[in-house]
Amino acid sequence: MAPFHSQLRILFIAHFKMMLLFTNEVAIVTGASSGIGAEVASKLAELGIGKLCLTGRQLDSLNQTKQSCISKSNGKLTEDDITNVIGNLSDEATCKKIVDKTIESFGQVDILINNAGMIKLGPLESCPIEDFDQLMNVNVRSMLVLSKLCIPHLRKTKGSIVNMGSVYGMQPFADAGYHCMSKAAVHMFTQCLALELAVDGIRVNCVNPGLIRTNILTRELMTDQEFDKLLEDGKRQHPLGRSGEPEDVAKAVAFLASKKASFITGNITPVDGGRNLMCPR
Ligand SMILES: NC(=O)c1ccc[n+]([C@@H]2O[C@H](COP(=O)([O-])OP(=O)(O)OC[C@H]3O[C@@H](n4cnc5c(N)ncnc54)[C@H](OP(=O)(O)O)[C@@H]3O)[C@@H](O)[C@H]2O)c1
Repeated sequence: MAPFHSQLRILFIAHFKMMLLFTNEVAIVTGASSGIGAEVASKLAELGIGKLCLTGRQLDSLNQTKQSCISKSNGKLTEDDITNVIGNLSDEATCKKIVDKTIESFGQVDILINNAGMIKLGPLESCPIEDFDQLMNVNVRSMLVLSKLCIPHLRKTKGSIVNMGSVYGMQPFADAGYHCMSKAAVHMFTQCLALELAVDGIRVNCVNPGLIRTNILTRELMTDQEFDKLLEDGKRQHPLGRSGEPEDVAKAVAFLASKKASFITGNITPVDGGRNLMCPR
């Protein structure tokens, strides 16, 4: 019989394996250089993913995410298991490069996380119509192009897609028409594609974050102080009494992407502390 400490080690390993959601799946995560996407990549690594293709526009930030994935993977992932693709997702050539490089490097695609996105706010009267085109290109069109390219590969693996929606896609907000429309389009796209691909055993779901602590709003829309004030207001706006952290969203994305969600498709999943249930009184 093995000594007590070896038995403990075997038990620990068995317990650890039970907690993993993945075995050797290959996942693509867009917008992995920042915020929610970076956390999703690390969470997939922590939960046993086999290989990752990480995309974004900032090489240094993508490399940081890569290192974080390696260190979260409990020794499973090495530099060779993670590839990066730098480029603007509005450009179809970038989407093609992402899928080509994943297949070249790892031979298959099991999971596509369409996370990358941007925000533009302001009243219709003063918002340039070019902002609408840019939002729709990044938040919606790039998802369509990437999904289209991945479908033949996902069909082989009976894989899954998770799209990043928003509470903005469920509720109307003043001065946010372009953004709300882009996220509502993501919801409808998710549900249509889920029906279309169910016959192939490919699942398609969507996650809707409330206000999450990332850089999205401080990139160009507000100062750090204004964002701090928004987080403070978020305590009232989210019934659970706080705004969200990227990890709150990453956990939901990982579950929906995994085989543990094998009977869930076309689901629009709020991860917003109940915010979508609120109405002004
Ligand atoms: N934070 C929130 O409160 C919140 C709430 C609801 C929904 N969401 C959604 O969550 C997703 C992630 O947002 P986040 O909060 O994590 O924002 P973030 O920190 O600003 O990260 C956005 C990511 O998308 C990438 N990206 C943006 N435009 C791109 C483009 N044209 N081409 C290629 N990559 C592009 C960025 O790449 P680079 O940094 O390398 O340029 C970055 O990796 C978005 O779809 C957003 O709408 C966020």
